[in-house]
Amino acid sequence: MKVLVFAGSTRLQSYNRKLARVTAEMARASGAEVTHLELGDYDVPLYNGDLEERGTPPDVIRLKQIFFEHPAWIICTPEYNASYPALVKNTFDWLSRSVPNNPDWTDGYKPTQGKVVGVLSASPGALGGLRSQSHLVPLLLNLRCWVAPQSYALGRAAEAFDAEGRLVNEAARKPIQAVIDQVLFAAQRLNA
Ligand SMILES: Cc1cc2nc3c(=O)[nH]c(=O)nc-3n(C[C@H](O)[C@H](O)[C@H](O)COP(=O)(O)O)c2cc1C
Repeated sequence: MKVLVFAGSTRLQSYNRKLARVTAEMARASGAEVTHLELGDYDVPLYNGDLEERGTPPDVIRLKQIFFEHPAWIICTPEYNASYPALVKNTFDWLSRSVPNNPDWTDGYKPTQGKVVGVLSASPGALGGLRSQSHLVPLLLNLRCWVAPQSYALGRAAEAFDAEGRLVNEAARKPIQAVIDQVLFAAQRLNA
């Protein structure tokens, strides 16, 4: 099963990027074929309809292809003002746009429809970005994704990793693994 793991942050010391790295390793150990995507590697401007009329940016097309190729995703989202960050929204807004004159991408739902998605979050606060998830889930449903019923919010994230980005909060492994297991379980059955 091909699983795409990515964080909704490009910050160098991002806790969600660290969580995504740990999650990717754990999903690999569970037998998944994992792509660990860094959104910072893609040149995606803030969505603007005028800009879009001049042509969909090439990296948006690349991202559409990557998201489309993976039946399952695990997102590690930060929480900004009790919701998910603009980076996440902007990425999905571009992904959802049909590309006129490009027969591969006339259907705006193509990169997202039917994907099984696990939601994780991390925050230095006690709630671990839990409130971001309650906004992200409806967005994913609107994009016609299947969202795994179990999710996990890693609180006190500043103490959860060592200097090399390894997870030292051992108690967090079990709930992260539970999300991975659910995503693999559902994605395997939906794509059987
Ligand atoms: C604009 C902004 C709003 C934030 N709002 C929240 C919040 O509502 N809840 C929370 O737990 N943390 C909040 N934070 C703190 C983030 O959780 C923290 O910056 C975290 O490190 C961001 O994720 P990252 O480490 O993956 O980049 C906010 C940070 C920013 C920049």
